[in-house]
Amino acid sequence: MKKYSFGNVLDTKAVTVKVEKAEGEMPYFTVSQDNHSLKYTLGKDARVYGLGEQVRGINKRGWIYVSNNSDNPHHREDAHSLYGSHNFLLVTGGRDKFGIFIDTPGRVTWDVGYSDMDELVITVEDDAYDIYFIEGKSERHIVQQFRTLIGRSYIAPRWALGYGQSRWSYMNEDEICEVVDRHHENGLPLDSVYMDIDYMNEYEDFTINSESFPDFKDFVSKMKKKNIHLIPIIDAGVKKKDGYFVYEEGKEKGYFCKKEDGSLFVAAVWPGESVFPDMLNEDAAKWFGEKYKILLDMGIDGFWNDMNEPALFYTPQKVEEALNYAISLKGKKLDLSTWWAFGDKIQGLSNNEEDYKLFYHQIGDKKVRHDKVHNLFGYNMTKAATDAFNKFKPEERTLMFSRSSYIGAHRYGGIWQGDNFAWWSHIKLNMCETISLNMCGFVFTGADIGGFGCDTTQDLLLRWLEFGIFTPLFRNHAALGTRRQEAYQFKEKTGFRHVLGMRYKLLPYIYSEYMKAVLKDDLMFAPLAFDYPEDCYAVDIQDQAMIGKEVMIAPVMEQNAKGRYVYVPERMKLFNFHENGEVETHIYEKGHHYIDIALTDVTFFIKEGCAIPVSMAKALSTNDVNFENPEMIGFADNEAEYEYYHDDGISTKYDLANNITILKYKEK
Ligand code: GLC
Repeated sequence: MKKYSFGNVLDTKAVTVKVEKAEGEMPYFTVSQDNHSLKYTLGKDARVYGLGEQVRGINKRGWIYVSNNSDNPHHREDAHSLYGSHNFLLVTGGRDKFGIFIDTPGRVTWDVGYSDMDELVITVEDDAYDIYFIEGKSERHIVQQFRTLIGRSYIAPRWALGYGQSRWSYMNEDEICEVVDRHHENGLPLDSVYMDIDYMNEYEDFTINSESFPDFKDFVSKMKKKNIHLIPIIDAGVKKKDGYFVYEEGKEKGYFCKKEDGSLFVAAVWPGESVFPDMLNEDAAKWFGEKYKILLDMGIDGFWNDMNEPALFYTPQKVEEALNYAISLKGKKLDLSTWWAFGDKIQGLSNNEEDYKLFYHQIGDKKVRHDKVHNLFGYNMTKAATDAFNKFKPEERTLMFSRSSYIGAHRYGGIWQGDNFAWWSHIKLNMCETISLNMCGFVFTGADIGGFGCDTTQDLLLRWLEFGIFTPLFRNHAALGTRRQEAYQFKEKTGFRHVLGMRYKLLPYIYSEYMKAVLKDDLMFAPLAFDYPEDCYAVDIQDQAMIGKEVMIAPVMEQNAKGRYVYVPERMKLFNFHENGEVETHIYEKGHHYIDIALTDVTFFIKEGCAIPVSMAKALSTNDVNFENPEMIGFADNEAEYEYYHDDGISTKYDLANNITILKYKEK
């Protein structure tokens, strides 16, 4: 590993290991005179991986990506930035094989063969940054070294790998009870129900609307008795309202971000006009983090942190400007270009670049303008919360995942993949992001299954769940105003029961793989290219994934498809779990095959010589899963062994060596 530094770098704390600076010239890249731009010539066959949460495929070649945490509910293929910034790339397949990590809290542009197909040009906005080069004998080896550099990933409680149902919003106790009861009545397993912003009093963080939840503590405990965890959302913006304790306290202590003249920076988010805790100021972050205790004390054991890019719907100044502009047009005949300009003024109010330059952070004794450290805001919100959990509940894990992130945040929480759509292409995006995020340390991740924006369909939800079964975060979430998409809303009850049930049957394997990936700094999800680098078909596969060392998945991601073509890179056994309880298996030789996969089938492949642990018992929650003595399924002529990680799922003592047992499988 080689580290180079330019200028006086602000420590993002992404890296946890001390690396000495290297001498001499930087490898692979030519650096521009002003140090802002790095250029590398990509070989014809070079493939480029990484960048965590980003649009497009597993191989990132052919687009231009920008690390700039953005509230981007449009989430289309032509986007450049999503909610997180993960500045790690891995180049392979051509003449070189290396990883590169650029540690800088500001904006980075990654032109990966967009302007010129054969060039990788990285442009860093800041003058000061650290850059690491990692070499290794394989792609996995490079990733493992990078993961070791950035420190062990966050570990979620095991129950958080159960199925979660979410919606913006379940408005009150009755609505939540209905969700729970209808899952149970229909034999649909469930471990958590997510509470979106409407549980609060006027969208004020750390408050509960007492009309909708008259005795919240009691309600939380009643739900626990039904094996249901309630997971409230916490937003980054604090409502600017006299008398609201978080606002009053933060203002008094000087903990909110300020403008240059020292006045409070105000922008609108869900609560209306809001102020923003200075998450980069240690004291302010500690103060905000410790507020989570209010909910911990009511029995809450999991949270999701939102709007923490931070999203800014508008600032009062910009609204004023837009209104003045509109007034200036009054009485004039609008030509087309003025009409466009008028539209842009209004549409440009949200997450406006200029607004991010209006406020400051107090980092130690330095006052730093927000845009310079923009990508660290959500990271430090998550850290603040997890630091508090470690203080108040050191023995037990607390669920924490965030929308916005930077590398480093992976040690404090997971992430969900933001506001996607009920589009078929977003199942694939979910898979590609999960793979790339694993490389960047975010192992506890998943997307809004069924799609957040726009109306889902029964078949989309089923197919998405069939993929989601494998992601650690397994949550169905939808936006306000969309069609209801809880599994029980659809006709195919048996199908949903079967598909959700399969998650629980596979949980011994999924949890074990999740924990091993975290504790060994390894990938749970990997591209086929990493395991079959010499296979000319495997290296190009963008719609299949390897899970652990044993399993390959090839999800159906097209509407009305009754199956799909699958590339099988070595001899494997297909397991097809049908809705009627039958398990069909078939051995496939290396090659391309068309596989029938009916709408409610759950399928995956096991490599020859491998086996995985499963719990075939019927489960309505993770409590019903047999983690102690799982059964084995596999594909072996003789015997196969599986390295099984098993612990109590809740304590914060993670002992890899003592929690591993070797399970044996013998073909009947
Ligand atoms: C944001 C979140 C979404 C949430 C909504 C309302 O759009 O990404 O998950 O439902 O805000 O809180």
